[in-house]
Amino acid sequence: MFKIQSDDLQHHFESDGNDTLLSAALRAELAFPYECNSGGCGACKIELLEGEVANLWPEASGLSARELRKNRFLACQCKALSDLKIRVINRAEGRASHPPKRISTRVIGKRFLSDEMFELRLVAEQDVMFSPGQYFMVELPELGTRAYSAASPVDGNTLTLIIKAVPNGKVSRALAHDAIETLQIDGPYGLSVLSASTETQSVFIAGGSGIAPMVSMVKALIAQEYEKPITVFYGSRLETELEAAETLFGHGANIRLINVLSSVTDGLEKKYPTGYVHEVIPAYMESLQGAEFYLCGPPQMINSVQKLLMIENKVPFESIHFDRFF
Ligand code: FES
Repeated sequence: MFKIQSDDLQHHFESDGNDTLLSAALRAELAFPYECNSGGCGACKIELLEGEVANLWPEASGLSARELRKNRFLACQCKALSDLKIRVINRAEGRASHPPKRISTRVIGKRFLSDEMFELRLVAEQDVMFSPGQYFMVELPELGTRAYSAASPVDGNTLTLIIKAVPNGKVSRALAHDAIETLQIDGPYGLSVLSASTETQSVFIAGGSGIAPMVSMVKALIAQEYEKPITVFYGSRLETELEAAETLFGHGANIRLINVLSSVTDGLEKKYPTGYVHEVIPAYMESLQGAEFYLCGPPQMINSVQKLLMIENKVPFESIHFDRFF
């Protein structure tokens, strides 16, 4: 076991050298800054003051070459090779309520929602604990590890993920097309979860496979008998995905789903509002004040919606919840 200590003494944990520094810190139930756990957002930056680490992905976009030269690393992309002294660069937003665990699962079902997007149903050896909105790391030996969000409410030892098979995506394409019977997952991760405030209406804004955490959170609200309005904006370029969205959220008098077609196809523009999701939102919301907003989707969508909410409509940052993925 290697001992890892931060210079401000806020972080003191151990790693067996198999975990990334981020996973080791979260397993020790520490509050550690992070979002994507995938090398893209840069939230988990550390400066290495003493000791040696293995950098798993030196080209990760979350860190510039200049920062690398300053002995900075991404905690989600490095492992300890010795005892370490580190400086944690950013401030942690909060502590996850469920420390991540490695879990063995069996695949018990796969259902395609479109040519590219599918639900993967898993059953684990133990109960799978998470907060709706969180994601799990799925590891395929030789191919890599990817983050996929839970698309089910907490339900004993079962878990449903929604995955998009992306071009050149080795992990997602193998999960879509290969006969895989068992899967190692690690999680949960992610800080974008339902707000404790249930006094306000909830607005969910998703694009593509970003629909997964929204389904999990909306179903959790329904289970809590949440009575305020729930509005879901879902954008996709595929009609099959928009149709699938209509079956995923369940029904309730207070739920409104607005499907948005992001690319114009003959005839379909009459059936759905078309354009980018952020362009469509104002026409469907009387006011953007007094709501909690949950965002998940491509980075451009997150940036545009953030601009709409924070800059153009002065929605407070604390009311906007998202983890950045790349
Ligand atoms: S780069 Fe490490 S959490 Fe995003």
